[in-house]
Amino acid sequence: MHALIINGSPRIKKFSNTDKILDEFTKGMCEGGNTCDRYEISDKASWDAIRKSYDESDNILIAIPLYVECIPGLLMEFLETLTPKTGNAKMSFILQSGFAEGVQLRCGEAYLEKLAGYLGCEYGGTLCKGGNFEIRFLNDENRVKATSPYAEMGREFASCGNFNSDKCKAFTGPEIFPTPVRVLVGFFFKTVVRKSFIRDGESLGCKEPLDYKPYA
Ligand SMILES: Cc1cc2nc3c(=O)[nH]c(=O)nc-3n(C[C@H](O)[C@H](O)[C@H](O)COP(=O)(O)O)c2cc1C
Repeated sequence: MHALIINGSPRIKKFSNTDKILDEFTKGMCEGGNTCDRYEISDKASWDAIRKSYDESDNILIAIPLYVECIPGLLMEFLETLTPKTGNAKMSFILQSGFAEGVQLRCGEAYLEKLAGYLGCEYGGTLCKGGNFEIRFLNDENRVKATSPYAEMGREFASCGNFNSDKCKAFTGPEIFPTPVRVLVGFFFKTVVRKSFIRDGESLGCKEPLDYKPYA
């Protein structure tokens, strides 16, 4: 199998969580002689090369971080420059996010299914998973721990050619956390996370409170 893999994050490669996820995913996918061409949408200088590769590929995988419940604007800008395909191409997606509940990825997933159709491609499914806010801040050991499950998904993609297997569907984890976990997470955000946002704000020179409403 050969695949064109596009990192749809506007963050440069060095800081992109999607990039670290793709490192592990492609490790699994490329076992046994499979190959891929990898590009980043954040590198605008490579857009012509990505378009050329898209035109020549029949197996396209776009890996996307959820930005404000849907796909990043820079990726949208790039997608609008593509010519819909007329052959037998397939388009699959990895959709990953900060918050961990599967349910919040479903709207983006529904959009991606339509997107494959708009671009004249067969839809190869979307691998959905959240809980990825911190990947780029982890040390090497913990980063590999957090991203290594994607290697298995790379193997699964290589063997099935899509993300439609039960294994891929189970990879998302819980759709909604149980009530006690939701209450705990809410408490955590209102206390520890709030404190750290206040500290970050102060370190950036902010003098007003977090809930300041200058236009209210
Ligand atoms: C502008 C912006 C918007 C985001 N919106 C969401 C969101 O709606 N839901 C969510 O779970 N995570 C959201 N995130 C978190 C990212 O999806 C998450 O950190 C992801 O791993 C980033 O991947 P990247 O570093 O490759 O861009 C957002 C991050 C940014 C910077």
